[in-house]
Amino acid sequence: MKYRKLGASDLKISEISLGSWLTYGVGVEADKARACLDRAFDLGINFIDTANAYGRGAAETVLGESLAKRPRDSYVLATKLFVPMSDTDRGLSRAQVFKQIDASLQRLRTDYVDLYQCHRYDPDTPLEETMQALSEIVRAGKVRWIGFSEWSPEQIEAAFAIPGVERFVSSQPQYSLLWRRPERRVIPICAANGVSQIVWSPLAQGVLTGKYDPNSPPPAGTRATSDTMGSAIARWMEKPVLERVQQLKPIAAEAGLTLGQFSLAWVLREPNVASAIVGASRPEQLDENAAASGAVVDPALFKKAEELVAGLQGAS
Ligand SMILES: NC(=O)c1ccc[n+]([C@@H]2O[C@H](COP(=O)([O-])OP(=O)(O)OC[C@H]3O[C@@H](n4cnc5c(N)ncnc54)[C@H](OP(=O)(O)O)[C@@H]3O)[C@@H](O)[C@H]2O)c1
Repeated sequence: MKYRKLGASDLKISEISLGSWLTYGVGVEADKARACLDRAFDLGINFIDTANAYGRGAAETVLGESLAKRPRDSYVLATKLFVPMSDTDRGLSRAQVFKQIDASLQRLRTDYVDLYQCHRYDPDTPLEETMQALSEIVRAGKVRWIGFSEWSPEQIEAAFAIPGVERFVSSQPQYSLLWRRPERRVIPICAANGVSQIVWSPLAQGVLTGKYDPNSPPPAGTRATSDTMGSAIARWMEKPVLERVQQLKPIAAEAGLTLGQFSLAWVLREPNVASAIVGASRPEQLDENAAASGAVVDPALFKKAEELVAGLQGAS
């Protein structure tokens, strides 16, 4: 496993990291979740991403149980706030920042997180209020570094313009061969300001492994067939997308990689990406995914792959 520096922070995180959206505490049983986490550590993955809202606290609880047995300085832990936790608890107000960080720390069984991320921008709270509150929890030692997820270029720049507050070091956008929008403005702004990308759904929720045949129903046991985990995958399950993904397979084979590994190596070709956050329902998936770190791929093959998917919505 190779490691990259996270923006202007002092954190070094694994190029492949493990997330917990839909999986741990929700669609993946606790013993499998524990096995995935153990395998991740065996493979050198040191960066774990979660959010208070994943399973309304359940993901953090499962991670907290598993992580409690490990030295706190042996992993880099990231969580988020913003998404509703109840009818009244949501957003990035000062009161929510203080309330949600304490609840996350309790579930995660730790007294600090390495990275605290604003899951989305909160149009109902003045940005200055959020940045001030985040700065206070950094200075109180509850949070080491701060980041954001899916903010617009204007929102990002507005945060950088506020004096006297802690600075963001990470951006968490969706980014994959099928979703390249961050390349237009977010990545250049971040690269110029000491902010790295830690990207979500780098495998388009599993679609970029090529395991979904456009002419057959999805295989049993996959996210696309899951009642609890399949709610957001529909956009990638359309026939034209699946057909094009199948055509990527020989290109990956030419690089000596599985399509999943090739897709992760493609994400990591971008120097402003510090880590590709994968999900995993089984430990073996992490064996395959972790091997993408350090893969050397002829840029001509990446170009061929980009051209093949260009024209699909979000891919160009
Ligand atoms: N900031 C945000 O708004 C946001 C949004 C979404 C996600 N995230 C973060 O990003 C993380 C990753 O998102 P994601 O789960 O969508 O990522 P992903 O890596 O694109 O998809 C993960 C899923 O693909 C399948 N898969 C993974 N590796 C595989 C392999 N080698 N072979 C076959 N199938 C494989 C597994 O599903 P099955 O085995 O069930 O098919 C797995 O759960 C999340 O856990 C979360 O931490 C953040």
